[in-house]
Amino acid sequence: MPSSVSLFLAFFLGAVAQSANGYGGVQRLKLQKMPMVLDDMANDEFRSQAREQVSLHEAPVDVEGCGLGMTSERIQGGHPVPLINFLNSQYFTEVSLGTPKQYFNVVLDTGSSNFWVPSTSCNSIACYLHKKYDSTASSTFKKNGSEFEIYYDSGAISGIISQDVLSIGDLTINSQDFGEALVEPGLGWAFSKFDGILGLGFDTTSVNNIVPPFINMVERGLLDEPIFSFRVGSSEEDAGEAVFGGIDKGHYKGEIHYVPIRRSGHWEVGLDSVRFGDDVLELENTGAVIDTGYSLLGIPSDVAELINAQIGAQPSWTGQYTVECDTVPSLPDIAFTLGGREYSLTSEDYILRVQQQCISSFQSFDSEVEQFWVLGSVFLRKYFTVFDYGAGQIGFAIAAQA
Ligand SMILES: *[C@@H]1O[C@H](CO)[C@@H](O)[C@H](O)[C@H]1NC(C)=O
Repeated sequence: MPSSVSLFLAFFLGAVAQSANGYGGVQRLKLQKMPMVLDDMANDEFRSQAREQVSLHEAPVDVEGCGLGMTSERIQGGHPVPLINFLNSQYFTEVSLGTPKQYFNVVLDTGSSNFWVPSTSCNSIACYLHKKYDSTASSTFKKNGSEFEIYYDSGAISGIISQDVLSIGDLTINSQDFGEALVEPGLGWAFSKFDGILGLGFDTTSVNNIVPPFINMVERGLLDEPIFSFRVGSSEEDAGEAVFGGIDKGHYKGEIHYVPIRRSGHWEVGLDSVRFGDDVLELENTGAVIDTGYSLLGIPSDVAELINAQIGAQPSWTGQYTVECDTVPSLPDIAFTLGGREYSLTSEDYILRVQQQCISSFQSFDSEVEQFWVLGSVFLRKYFTVFDYGAGQIGFAIAAQA
C-alpha cells in the first residue's frame, strides 16, 4: 500500500445499463465505479483498523458466532450471513467455492447480477493481490469455458464461466455457474478489500444469462421465502448482516413498509420527491435504486451541485466534496419519499467522517436512459431493507442498532 495516500474505493455497482446481446457470446453490462481517494490515511489508528479488517477478512467466518446477539427464534426460516465492514465504505461477506472449500470475500450487490472471483490464471495486478479460484484444486469443478465480459468505467473485467459448489452462510448451492476473472485492469480493483462480486440482481440483467446464486436458491427450493434482507452496520464491530429467505425481527424497529418495484429486473422503487431542508423537489418518472454494493448517494449532477453548494461543500484535491466539520450539526436533513413515505437522513448520516475530514455523500451520477437516483449504504445504515423477489417489492423499516 502507498504510505501517505491510500486509494480508497466507493464502488458504484448499481446503475446497470445493459445493451442488447454483444458479439461472440459476450454481453455488455455497464457498471460505474467511482474511486474515492482520501488523504491523511497514513494515520496509525486508521492503519491498525485496516490491519484488523484484513485479518478478519482472512479468517473463515463463523456464522453462529457473528450474529450480534441473534437468536434462532428471531429468524424464521432465514439463513444469516454476517457482513464485514471496511470503514463504512466497503461491505462484503465470505463465501466458498469448490471442494475442498476455497474462500473469497465478495460484495453482496443488489445493483448487479453476476457472480465472479479472480482466477489463478489471471495475471492482472489485482489478481495477485486477491484470493484466486483454482479449478484444478476442486473435485466438484465443472468446465464451461464460455467467455464473459463486464464493463466498468475503468475497464472491463473478463474471463470464463466455470461451475462449482458455492457455500454462503449455511446454504450450499451445487452446480453454480460463475465468472473466473482472467483480466482485471486498473488499480481500482487492486486496492479493493474484496476479491469479487456476488450480484443479487435479477437473472434478466445477468451477463451471459447466468443464473445468479440467489435465483438458484429460490428455484431449487433452498429458501422458505423468496426474499433476502439487509441490516447494514455502522462500524467494524457491528458490520451488519444479510439474511437469505427470511427476516430477523431484531434487525429493525416498527413496521416494514413495502414499495413495489418500479422497473422489472431491477431493485428499484419509485422516487416521488426529495426534500432538502425546506425545499421540495417533486420528481416524475424517477426511480431510486436500492444498492447494497454502493457506499454513497448517487444523484443527478445538477442536483448534486446544488446540494453540495448549499451545504458549503468544496471539492478537495482528491475529488471528494468536503465540508467544515463544525458546520455539520447545523446542516438540514434530506428526505426521500418512497411509496408515499418519507425516509430522512440527518447531516450526521449523510456526511461521512473519515479521519479529520467530513465528506459529502452526494455524488454526481447521471443515468443514461432511465432516470434514477442510487441509495447506497449511507441510506442503508439507517434503513433496514427487505428484497422481496416473490412479490416484486422492497420493504423499508428503521434499522435497529446493535
Ligand atoms: C455455460 O454457461 C452458460 C451460462 O450459465 C450456459 O448457458 C451454457 O449452457 C453453459 N455451457 C456449457 C457447455 O456448459
